[in-house]
Amino acid sequence: MERFTWECRTKVRSGKGCVREYLEGFVREFAAPDTNIMVGYGGGSVKKNGAYDDVMDVLKGMGYEGRIYEFSGIMSNPTLAKMLEGADFARKNNIGLIIAVGGGSVMDCCKAISVQAKYDGDAWEDFWMQGKPMTHEVLPLGVVVTMPATGSEVNGCAVLTNEETHIKTDRDYAEMNPVFALLDPAYTLTMPVRQMRAGTFDILSHIMETYFSWPVEGNPADDISEGLMRGLIRDFRAALADPQDYQARSNIMWTASLAENRIIKTGKSKDFEAHNMEHQLSAYTNCNHGEGLAVLHPVYYRHIYKDGLGKFVSFAENVWGLRREDFGSDEELALAGIDALADLIREAGLPTTLRELGFGEAEKAMLPEIAKSCFVSGGAFRQLTQEEILEIYNECW
Ligand code: NZQ
Ligand code: ZN
Repeated sequence: MERFTWECRTKVRSGKGCVREYLEGFVREFAAPDTNIMVGYGGGSVKKNGAYDDVMDVLKGMGYEGRIYEFSGIMSNPTLAKMLEGADFARKNNIGLIIAVGGGSVMDCCKAISVQAKYDGDAWEDFWMQGKPMTHEVLPLGVVVTMPATGSEVNGCAVLTNEETHIKTDRDYAEMNPVFALLDPAYTLTMPVRQMRAGTFDILSHIMETYFSWPVEGNPADDISEGLMRGLIRDFRAALADPQDYQARSNIMWTASLAENRIIKTGKSKDFEAHNMEHQLSAYTNCNHGEGLAVLHPVYYRHIYKDGLGKFVSFAENVWGLRREDFGSDEELALAGIDALADLIREAGLPTTLRELGFGEAEKAMLPEIAKSCFVSGGAFRQLTQEEILEIYNECW
């Protein structure tokens, strides 16, 4: 195996009612009684799924009334401008603990706020752009998850969009891991089916982006990934058939975390080129993250499968249950595995082309510029050129 380091400092509590059961203990652990607490959330879904009331009731019950500062309106694909607004808000109100309530966008924005609020320099430039070591103390951040997808609750990754430069990018710093994460699957039952589909595909994408990278030979990380993918496909189908299936939805929620708590990344080179290509589509058009990935993955994999053939064969056999003897060659088997993935995307009702993603002629005209702006992954089976990225976009049309 390749060398690796692994850590995940986040304390997780999961299950129906976990916020009312565990939030108080976490607040006692991470905030003094006179601390000002910022509660960050998005456009208001938290007020319909019960998460907001649960958090507020616990904090008020602990005597924090008057020291709770709400920072709302965090949008999907959070912008650098919103993060800077949040950091000012946190500084002005002398915040000592942030609780993010929502999906990946809220969690990511609050993570970045926790960094910038305690930093004298330009966090976007120093950390997101240059990846400098993070040596300053960040504000402690706890999260209450309402949408399983990104796994942001158990890692130090935060994705921001700089609207001026059209750069959407992530950084993962151990210092940005939430100190606690509360996962109540009941909150997720109010998600519109469209978000459920997109979020679940994002989870599958995170596993595939890691699995389809070096080494190709069998290893513990990939063994876990294969099990996670089989289970996720089963739960995805169950949740599509009955979106209120609690068992499936709670499984999906924990799979999102297992996919992104770095355990399946141990010893892997990690590709994430589909993410790089999607992030730039989103930076220019604000498209939905999981839906953009659904369009890109099969096309991208048909470009690179020969470069990591053994892993694509394992994917076909161990994830989709295809048998070598039914195919004329490893290449045919590998392609059949990618076809099975494309079939699942169609079956789920996810978009399969950029047009279905909502792109029109204006967006099409931007594709050359978007392709040029993509980061090229160093961990991929083969590094794409900007020209090939444009080819992939065009094939996705
Ligand atoms: O804004 P509100 O009202 O909360 O509504 C949200 C939002 O409109 C809604 N929602 C969330 N929970 C809900 C709900 N609606 C009803 N019931 C609920 N229980 O869903 C919409 C989407 O939420 P958002 O947080 O944007 O989705 P997601 O979790 O997919 O996060 C997407 C962002 O995360 C980034 C993406 O690029 C994108 O910016 N990513 C973050 C990663 C990370 N931190 O590790 C990795 C990912 O690869 C990804 O890039
Ligand atoms: Zn993702």
